[in-house]
Amino acid sequence: MEQAKDAKAEAESPTKAKAVWLELSANNIASLVRVAEKMHPDLPERDEVFAERIKLFPEGCLALVEGEDNELCGYAISHPIRRRQPPALNSLLGEIVPAADEYYIHDLAILPRAQGRGLAQECIDRLFAIAKRFPTTSLVSVYGTAPFWSRFGFVPDEVDEGLEKKLREYGDDATYLARRNEEPQRLTTMDAGPV
Ligand SMILES: CC(C)(COP(=O)(O)OP(=O)(O)OC[C@H]1O[C@@H](n2cnc3c(N)ncnc32)[C@H](O)[C@@H]1OP(=O)(O)O)[C@@H](O)C(=O)NCCC(=O)NCCS
Repeated sequence: MEQAKDAKAEAESPTKAKAVWLELSANNIASLVRVAEKMHPDLPERDEVFAERIKLFPEGCLALVEGEDNELCGYAISHPIRRRQPPALNSLLGEIVPAADEYYIHDLAILPRAQGRGLAQECIDRLFAIAKRFPTTSLVSVYGTAPFWSRFGFVPDEVDEGLEKKLREYGDDATYLARRNEEPQRLTTMDAGPV
């Protein structure tokens, strides 16, 4: 409660504010796309893809904002899916499937100037609070970030032909990682065993 008050006070006096995670709104989409283009130049997604996820699952879509103008310097997009059935890159969901049994972190990106301050950790903790309604959490790891995700208990998951095809759209180094939500959240090695 105290923490929530602090975050609110910081957001209300932005000159002194540190960066904070808030729910994304449709008004953030233009700045989100600018950040996405910088961070993922080879993995473009249409504005509609972000807009739809914010509309379908707002609690899993976060904006990292800082400074006088609440400038967007990072974002996270996440939502429930069926186990090992993430959406293809740059595709619309249509709906959050009622039989969803996995939580999926579609993207987490922080501009270099805001990296290294524990803000990704803050965001992931917040997403795990939602994810615990589901048995597992998953994501597609790119840019060699598997060691980063392993700190949070993510390990390589089984990949069938359909999933393999989706992964290739993310590049040759893309891997599907998952974690059991009841596992400890921060591990330092990749040897947590199969999910
Ligand atoms: C991955 C990313 C979100 C991390 O953001 P960040 O602000 O640097 O992360 P944090 O400061 O919260 O770091 C949390 C911890 O992870 C560690 N860490 C950060 N990046 C890491 C990496 N690439 N490999 C291993 N550990 C890493 C930090 O040292 C920190 O550890 P500590 O608590 O012991 O100090 C950011 O680098 C980014 O946006 N990268 C580009 C987009 C991207 O790769 N997104 C993920 C795609 S799957």
